[in-house]
Amino acid sequence: MGEVIDLRTDTVTRPTPGMREAMAVAEVGDDVYGEDPTVTALEAEVAALFGHEAALFAPSGSMANQIALQLHVPAGDELLCDADAHVVTYEVGAAAAYGGISSRTWPAVGADLDPDVVAGMIRPDGYFAVPTRAIAVEQTHNRGGGGVIPLPTLRRMREVADEHGVALHCDGARIWHAHVADGVPLAGYGVLFDTLSVCLSKGLGAPVGSLIVGSAEKIARARFLRKRMGGGMRQVGVLAAAGRYALAHHVGRLADDHVKAARLAEAVAPHGVLASVVRTNIVPLDLTKHPLDAHALAAAARAEGLLISVLGPRTARLVTHLDVTDAQIDRAATILDTALRA
Ligand SMILES: Cc1ncc(COP(=O)(O)O)c(C=O)c1O
Repeated sequence: MGEVIDLRTDTVTRPTPGMREAMAVAEVGDDVYGEDPTVTALEAEVAALFGHEAALFAPSGSMANQIALQLHVPAGDELLCDADAHVVTYEVGAAAAYGGISSRTWPAVGADLDPDVVAGMIRPDGYFAVPTRAIAVEQTHNRGGGGVIPLPTLRRMREVADEHGVALHCDGARIWHAHVADGVPLAGYGVLFDTLSVCLSKGLGAPVGSLIVGSAEKIARARFLRKRMGGGMRQVGVLAAAGRYALAHHVGRLADDHVKAARLAEAVAPHGVLASVVRTNIVPLDLTKHPLDAHALAAAARAEGLLISVLGPRTARLVTHLDVTDAQIDRAATILDTALRA
């Protein structure tokens, strides 16, 4: 096999030469003592971007989400989220295992969130029921095909949360993509949530790192919870420097990834396998009506040097990112078109 085109996910990117240079020259200190100037600068920068008081650097998006959930939901109480949300699908039971959090889900609708449905699920404090303490939404929605929740829907979610006195968290691993796709300022999203988790290692191309964003009080508590979970890091400015570089150089270019995803969507659409409209860098495939199932399609693509993700027996996914060229996208489109004709 010659060159491999990896469209499994956008976490497979490698640091660019410019990013490596920024990492090499980063000033560092012991961040558990609050003495790493590059981490402190990154945290201040991200807090300001989202219009919040503070932010906390965490090793992963999963840890950032789980710390945020523990901020809002005491053990035994309840989180509401989409049935396909990352927090209940891919975080290996962490909310229950680490936070004792009870999760209840609305049917998987990806970015087509209906605030009235969510409002109807909220349970108040009382003697017999599990009280709802927080709602989590995902922007963009990973299993929802990179869909973008519209700003008016999120505003309504904020009202619902306020009306019922519950917290609203955003799993914003790819909120940058929503910002680029819909032109909503990051602070326009930030103001709607009590906390957000945002990732530097997905589309932005940093090797590691996520941040929890919120009030100074919440982030002080988050710092404690991060330490408890073993996420206190030392001279981690080398990684924060990669994140700062990514924020400075890799946000605007996400528009290229969206164009590349649209190009792939165009190639697969005639085969009737596009699961939903492609808005960002994720192309979701629904193979329920196609002779090939997801494993067969992935095997056929792999034989030609193209890697794709299998999410279920008849569900597959392509993700564009920093490390795929236009020529590779053209090649991937041809491989998929040929495989889907078979
Ligand atoms: C929507 C979403 N949230 C959270 C995460 C978790 O990130 P990490 O892999 O850094 O734990 C991911 C990872 O792909 C994701 O897609």
